[in-house]
Amino acid sequence: MIATAPIAIIGTGIAGLSAAQALHAAGHTVQLFDKSRGSGGRMASKRSDAGALDLGAQYFTARDRRFVEAVQQWQARGWVSAWTPSLYHCKEGRLSASPDEQERWVGSPRMSAITRAMLGALPVHFACRITEVFRGEQHWHLQDADGNSHGPFSHVIVATPAPQATALLTSAPKLAGAAASVAMEPTWAVALAFEQPLDSPVEGCFVQDSPLDWLARNRSKPGRDTQMDTWVLHATSSWSKQHLDMPKHEVIEHLRGAFAELIGCAVPAPAMSLAHRWLYARPASAHQWGALADADLGLYACGDWCLSGRVEGAWLSGQEAARKLLEHLQ
Ligand code: FAD
Ligand code: NAI
Repeated sequence: MIATAPIAIIGTGIAGLSAAQALHAAGHTVQLFDKSRGSGGRMASKRSDAGALDLGAQYFTARDRRFVEAVQQWQARGWVSAWTPSLYHCKEGRLSASPDEQERWVGSPRMSAITRAMLGALPVHFACRITEVFRGEQHWHLQDADGNSHGPFSHVIVATPAPQATALLTSAPKLAGAAASVAMEPTWAVALAFEQPLDSPVEGCFVQDSPLDWLARNRSKPGRDTQMDTWVLHATSSWSKQHLDMPKHEVIEHLRGAFAELIGCAVPAPAMSLAHRWLYARPASAHQWGALADADLGLYACGDWCLSGRVEGAWLSGQEAARKLLEHLQ
């Protein structure tokens, strides 16, 4: 059965778009909303003088068979490429090579290419922050931060991080309660660009015992702008939490210092640097919810926080929200 009105999806990260694609493929009309100016959420890439930089998700792995198949299709369409960095590990200040057999994927030519391609021509309102989801006599309506209302919709899928989902799920207190129980931790991200390549073989590094927990040579990813030597540094959740309100220039200085200490080569002043704070970067713990549903009401929630805090978990959660919705329509 086809829904009597479009289905609203709040959030154009990978979870929302995964649900949107599944519903569209089943013949339903979807309408997407995002508070940002573009799609991708935590898989977004930031344009800069040194080219586009992946400031959020760095790469992803595919372990579930369904996701493996989706990634194979994305690869065939040119949306993703394998990334085979020269991997290192840094513990107690000691840097050592840490190669492995894990297959890692990145969007091509930037991380945001995946969600942009998934969105395709689906109808979307960007720069539209939804503040309220409410039900009329038969249908759902959305209110945005500019005072506009949108609707009617047959169903609503909330595909935002858990803390932002809670307020949008008040019509279904059980769902709101579940979302409210999920804590999400922040990550400070810093990008540095150097005119001359650093004299280091490192292209990706898992870090312990430092304010940093990961660093990557952005330009080592396939299809990236290679004019400058670009690096992305991620702070640990605990450092990010402790320095949540630190001004950006200070965050850059701190993390650049930690980077210079561990990278093992001279680090000149960067030609470009920027910082981004991800307030809701990762769920503090994993869940096995798949997606949340109040099928009688027609309200659903999905996102990485319903499974694992990874790209794969978010995509699977979106599929699960769509599956539950379609199942109830039959
Ligand atoms: P999001 O991508 O957060 O999408 C939610 C969307 O909802 C956003 O676009 C947001 O703008 C929108 N939104 C929120 N509130 C509203 C509202 N009220 N109205 C309208 N729109 C709204 N995963 C990996 O697998 N590998 C990695 O290497 C990796 N590294 C990471 C590094 C960092 C720094 C971060 C932050 C995340 C990383 N992740 C990684 C996690 C991965 O990015 C996420 O699991 C995944 O992208 C989450 O997708 P999502 O669709 O659930 O949520
Ligand atoms: P994965 O299998 O590459 O990594 C999982 C974890 O295994 C790594 O965090 C690391 O601790 C360890 N590891 C893997 N390969 C290693 C190697 N060669 N040497 C040393 N340690 C190694 O990828 P998976 O499972 O898909 O995880 C995604 C990644 O995304 C993780 O690294 C996770 O920390 C990161 N992430 C970061 C977030 C943030 O906010 N900074 C949010 C969500 C995920």
